[in-house]
Amino acid sequence: MTLTTSAILIERHGRPEVLVEREVPLADPGPEEVHLRVQAAGVNFADLFMREGLYDTVPPRPYSPGFEVAGEVMRVGHKVPTWKTGDRAVALMRHGGYARDVVLPARQLFRYPDSLTPAEAAAVPVVFLTAWVALFNSGNARSGETALVLVAGGGVGSAAVQLAVHHGMRVIGTAGTERKRSFVTDELGAEVCFDSRGDWEPQVRALVGDRGVDVALDAMGGRHTAACRRLLAPLGRLVFYGLSDAMPRAKRSWLRAAWAWLRTPLIHPLSLIQPNIGVSGIHLLHLQKREDLMIPALQQIYRGIEAKHWRPVLDRTFGLSRAGAVEAHRFIHARQNLGKVVLVSSKVG
Ligand SMILES: NC(=O)c1ccc[n+]([C@@H]2O[C@H](COP(=O)([O-])OP(=O)(O)OC[C@H]3O[C@@H](n4cnc5c(N)ncnc54)[C@H](OP(=O)(O)O)[C@@H]3O)[C@@H](O)[C@H]2O)c1
Repeated sequence: MTLTTSAILIERHGRPEVLVEREVPLADPGPEEVHLRVQAAGVNFADLFMREGLYDTVPPRPYSPGFEVAGEVMRVGHKVPTWKTGDRAVALMRHGGYARDVVLPARQLFRYPDSLTPAEAAAVPVVFLTAWVALFNSGNARSGETALVLVAGGGVGSAAVQLAVHHGMRVIGTAGTERKRSFVTDELGAEVCFDSRGDWEPQVRALVGDRGVDVALDAMGGRHTAACRRLLAPLGRLVFYGLSDAMPRAKRSWLRAAWAWLRTPLIHPLSLIQPNIGVSGIHLLHLQKREDLMIPALQQIYRGIEAKHWRPVLDRTFGLSRAGAVEAHRFIHARQNLGKVVLVSSKVG
């Protein structure tokens, strides 16, 4: 008998309401695979881009978005010695997490601290790994340096602020509302957080003077990237990892996406020489070849949570259902989220 599960799918592109829920076949786990009953699925900004049809790395439609889940192990392949039925695990995947069940290679599963709920565990992998790679691998961040973190109250931003503060950096953030700004300073430990909707560049300049900032983390694009670049100290590093500015506000708009793209500076290598600056980009989905870095990083991230060095910033949960996913996407579109949004199964207490 073919087993099925319920999944929330992108069948066509458009507003959050285009998401649908369907029964889909559920494969038996292969020898090195695990069947996980999903208790919580993290929602990422990229899921919105996928739904809008603005994301670059996607499978053919229909498919389910969702890069990260936490759940309970149901069945294991006969070549999987490390997991057993009933274990709690968190998993990273390329897509497919908005579902009641997933079947995936055992090497994509990780243990998480007992102190975390499944929703908190699922709020960690993508945003913390992105922040980690941006700061420590691409950004080569060092204690005593200054980090500028854009959208510091968002998922990746709130992780990056915490990691940088713990690393002994001076952290300057930007965020869109007073609630987010005070959270970033008072709860996460940034020195200051400026209004991202205003002209924050002169305010940062006044703070750092001619010296500039050592590491700038930018997933906004447009004018924000240009400002980050101008603010870099000699030997400063700009890490670019997203184009949030391209996200349509109300209805889908290719014009807005194109405008954000056009406003993002094209950087000629020669222009990096005189100011002595570096610019790099990261894309987690294209980092499988560096599992040697990713796996230890994720383990260290969860150890840091256990040791209370940093914590998942979980804002709201919505149901792991079509209605919940639609609401969750609307919530992030409306820029309401402070940290992460997670979909949780109704079976989780
Ligand atoms: N390259 C990678 O591997 C990688 C991995 C993870 C994430 N990312 C990128 O990093 C960025 C942050 O991702 P995230 O999942 O942590 O999301 P997030 O930052 O929590 O995204 C939501 C926040 O983005 C800000 N924002 C700016 N422009 C917006 C717009 N047009 N519509 C809605 N919100 C907007 C809002 O904060 P304010 O109110 O403060 O403006 C909003 O609350 C995204 O661009 C994402 O694609 C890249």
